[in-house]
Amino acid sequence: MSDLSSSRIEEELSRLAMRLGPVALVDETASTNDDARILARRGAPHGAVVLADCQSAGRGRGAHRWHSPPGENLYASLVWRPRLEASRLALLALAVGVGVARTVDRVLASRRAWIKWPNDVFVDDRKVAGVLVEATLGAGASTAIIGVGLNVHGRQFPEELASTATSLALLGAVDLDRSRVAARMIVEIDMACRDLELASSEGRNGLWLDELRSRDWLVGREVRVGDVAGRAAGIDDQGRLLVRRDGGLAVPVSSGEVSLRVATR
Ligand code: BTN
Repeated sequence: MSDLSSSRIEEELSRLAMRLGPVALVDETASTNDDARILARRGAPHGAVVLADCQSAGRGRGAHRWHSPPGENLYASLVWRPRLEASRLALLALAVGVGVARTVDRVLASRRAWIKWPNDVFVDDRKVAGVLVEATLGAGASTAIIGVGLNVHGRQFPEELASTATSLALLGAVDLDRSRVAARMIVEIDMACRDLELASSEGRNGLWLDELRSRDWLVGREVRVGDVAGRAAGIDDQGRLLVRRDGGLAVPVSSGEVSLRVATR
């Protein structure tokens, strides 16, 4: 029997007193983000969830594909109607990363999940989860599709990911049940995003941002983002990565893929 079931996720959500869902599960789809976008256009409520056991065209950030084989991992997308001003919307993806990192912490108990800005979730210097938030600004209201890929049971990865990816199973988690992990992840994402929304409405940053900073995997490392190179120096109140150029001021970077700079002779 599969450990992934929409009714078990819904039961677990109501046990945790969360009014999120409904949860739709399909065996296979191209991308759950595309499915959630279609549901959102048809009026799906805030908190509706789409999961697939496998994706034929799972998308990562940038031009990346997301490795999405059947029977192994979580591929989930949530319909989100954020109560955030447009200028704060970019923070949503960062708050989601905090929610996913908390989920990984809970499952692993004695390990700490880190966040590689903007929202890759790392344990032991390997990526265990990725987040893809696709937002559209409407007249007055915006809709975001929150997509998360979390490696759960997977023990083998394609060659190009073999040295950088990991899974909860490889990290030593036992008795893994994708339905329970999914419900916990939905709850943690909701809590982190609500913290962001409430704090923003009161002109504060919120505890989620302190937590993001305490999980910052890049801080102190030599990085390159586009044509900005230097030492990662934290994350500012707008969620931008700060990169300190040699002897200079920190440059805020709002988007882009971060690569590590390796010392050359
Ligand atoms: C990344 O790290 O590049 C983001 C990966 C996001 C993958 C998830 S899996 C569920 C959802 N559907 C997709 O096509 N992508 C996201």
